[in-house]
Amino acid sequence: MRTRLPDFPWDALAPFGEIARAHSGGIIDLSQGTPIDPTPDFIQKAFQEASNSPSYPLTAGTPELRTAIKKWATDRLGATGDFDVLPVIGSKELVAWLPTILESKKVLIPKIAYPTYHVGALIAGAQSIPVEIDATHWPTADLAWLNSPSNPTGRVHSLTEAQQVIAWARRADAILVSDECYLEFDHSATSFSILSQTSADNRNILAVHSLSKRSSMAGYRAAFIVGDSALVAQVREFRKHAGMMVSLPVQKAMTVALGDDVHVAAQRARYNTRRDVLRPALEGAGFRVEFSNSGLYLWCTRDEDAWTSVEWLAQRGILATPGSFYGQDGARFIRLAMTATDAHISEAVERLKA
Ligand SMILES: Cc1ncc(COP(=O)(O)O)c(C=O)c1O
Repeated sequence: MRTRLPDFPWDALAPFGEIARAHSGGIIDLSQGTPIDPTPDFIQKAFQEASNSPSYPLTAGTPELRTAIKKWATDRLGATGDFDVLPVIGSKELVAWLPTILESKKVLIPKIAYPTYHVGALIAGAQSIPVEIDATHWPTADLAWLNSPSNPTGRVHSLTEAQQVIAWARRADAILVSDECYLEFDHSATSFSILSQTSADNRNILAVHSLSKRSSMAGYRAAFIVGDSALVAQVREFRKHAGMMVSLPVQKAMTVALGDDVHVAAQRARYNTRRDVLRPALEGAGFRVEFSNSGLYLWCTRDEDAWTSVEWLAQRGILATPGSFYGQDGARFIRLAMTATDAHISEAVERLKA
């Protein structure tokens, strides 16, 4: 199995981390999309109150959590028709294991994409095929990943693009999995769930959501899937056998987090303010920003090799991610995450201006 997997890409970034750390003002790490704003107090409280937890939790989720996810999927995602839900231990593990669980042989992934879609196909021993956004000419396959808003580009699908993907899935009798973990962080785009586009026929369609970014709960490992009841049942059965269950304190924390949108709006405002501050400074330093109108990241280029841009920024103590981590088409781009304090973002602006 290990021989199937690529080298862990972040190891290649470590030397640039050293350069950035040597800056007299210290490192400003914009490379990883790991939230740094505190988990809201009411979520922490629900977690703490469930800390006496002697029994095994339910793989399917507590009735309260299942109800909370279903309500959120209806109200926020616009899901209609028959669908089911299932909590998972963060969405990365789901992405990495879903092709194995569903015994996929051929998996389509976006050309520029979160690397775990490819890794999941490798773990399953499946063929992974990078595809363009436009689904009208996609080859047949067992499963396709969609990611809107996208990591790393912040691009949001149009309604037409989403409809074309659904039409492809129906034609190919394939499973469509829409990773929507950045849906709450629109800047100048309007994103939507695939579940709002299925006309209540959710057969073969799943949406993946995560509370890591929405509620700054990455350390909790809290995510869930919503969609085709038969598919959800298949995934749930596998997970019951494999012991892949979300801990009870995390399930309690998820339940209250999903019941509140105020903290999400506050977090969205934080990320968008940082983006508005950083973007002009990057443009002033010669970078051209593409897409980046939703999600957590600025995706930009100086029309040079990504590593040249990464090194230039590292010398200023700023760590960015090379776009090549997300596919060959990203080789001349870099990705910067808004997951740094406001003070660090302001300091990054000063260094870019200097
Ligand atoms: C597109 C995408 N999907 C899934 C994940 C996994 O997130 P988590 O495992 O924290 O839910 C990430 C994390 O950065 C991501 O960018």
